[in-house]
Amino acid sequence: MSTPAPTLSRKRILLGISGGIAAYKSADLVRRLKERGAEVQVVMTAGAQEFIRPLTFQALSGNPVHTDLLDPAAEAAMGHIELAKWAELILIAPASAQVLAKLAGGFADDLLSTLCLASEAKLALAPAMNQAMWRHPATAANVQTLATRGALLWGPAAGSQACGDVGPGRMLEPDTLAAEVEKLFRASPSLAGKQVVITAGPTREALDPVRFLSNHSSGKMGFALAAAARDAGAEVTLIAGPVNLATPAGVKRIDVTGALEMRDAAERAADLCDIFIGAAAVADFRPAQVAEQKIKKTADSDSDSLALVKNPDIVAGIAARRQRRPFTVGFAAETEKVLEHARDKLQRKNLDLIVANDVSAEDSGFNSDRNAVTVIDAAGSSALPAALKTELAAQLIALIAERAPVK
Ligand code: PMT
Repeated sequence: MSTPAPTLSRKRILLGISGGIAAYKSADLVRRLKERGAEVQVVMTAGAQEFIRPLTFQALSGNPVHTDLLDPAAEAAMGHIELAKWAELILIAPASAQVLAKLAGGFADDLLSTLCLASEAKLALAPAMNQAMWRHPATAANVQTLATRGALLWGPAAGSQACGDVGPGRMLEPDTLAAEVEKLFRASPSLAGKQVVITAGPTREALDPVRFLSNHSSGKMGFALAAAARDAGAEVTLIAGPVNLATPAGVKRIDVTGALEMRDAAERAADLCDIFIGAAAVADFRPAQVAEQKIKKTADSDSDSLALVKNPDIVAGIAARRQRRPFTVGFAAETEKVLEHARDKLQRKNLDLIVANDVSAEDSGFNSDRNAVTVIDAAGSSALPAALKTELAAQLIALIAERAPVK
């Protein structure tokens, strides 16, 4: 049999296994997901471990299996919050009646239910139970609640059951579930074959050998966009100011310090790119002179002044090109009249699209893990509510992929 295409390359799937005879099928499901290139972490409830041993899943997934919420050794390796943030998709297969009830009720009394509460990842459920339990109004109500909250329900299938009954309640086959996962990830528009250049982080404008002007940008938004563009199939070049972040796998990174250096790197990279995204917080000004030696305090004065010169506007320079002009996206970091100022920048800088963020909002913007933005272009605007930057980045890339012209 031939190996399937890596349609789930590097997708991070957390597979939850609850107590039910169908748990044995999940071993095959891990294989199917891994064959397609996914990274799989397995979480088992106590009930699941009555049916099949964690060691089987450890061997198949290549990762230790997570079973306890309060296990110090497991928490030291990958804590439950870390695991919740790691997942792009939580798939519970089999999902027992008990698990559906717990999730609908918002319980957090074991590792799996806690992870589902703590994670902002998409949740997919593959129910498996006796047909009477599935038909019970309590289960139906729980399923309805979960679906209303956005959970995906895959199955169950109908047929003969392990207990001898016939009816709905059989877990979907591993192949079918793997195909559902593929479909889910395929739903986002593709950037396959596209070259994307992204600027990220702050710039540092030197004053003397030990001092600089800069800002609070952490690079998180730009790095998340780079990972999302890569996941959408693009070849990504990330031009990063001084930040303390790991390079997303598969992304080409160019480190720069000042705005002039960032401009030069951006101009070079943009020659070959289809989409340019300016997420960096570029300093608008730099000191007119960079002192060769550390500037000394003047003994007889309590004040001093600093002469500044304007930096080039990198994103506007790219958008002003007559030739080799990529689809150009800017960000607007605003503290007041956010949409008004963003619309003005869209026009003034001749951008195709601008992403406005209110950086005065709490837990948003600079140096936060979360952001809330409004995307504006000539056709109008759409607000993307507060979410992790990683999630927002995927939404932004999907939106940009839809709007960037096919070359
Ligand atoms: O890095 P994080 O901590 O994750 O924070 C993310 C962010 C808040 C920095 C990011 O979401 C953001 O808003 N980036 C743009 C910040 C900014 O400088 O905004 P601006 O309104 O000053 O600039 C508008 C646009 O022009 C931006 O695309 C900017 O990259 C670009 N610009 C600005 C000045 C300049 N000299 N050259 C530019 O290219």
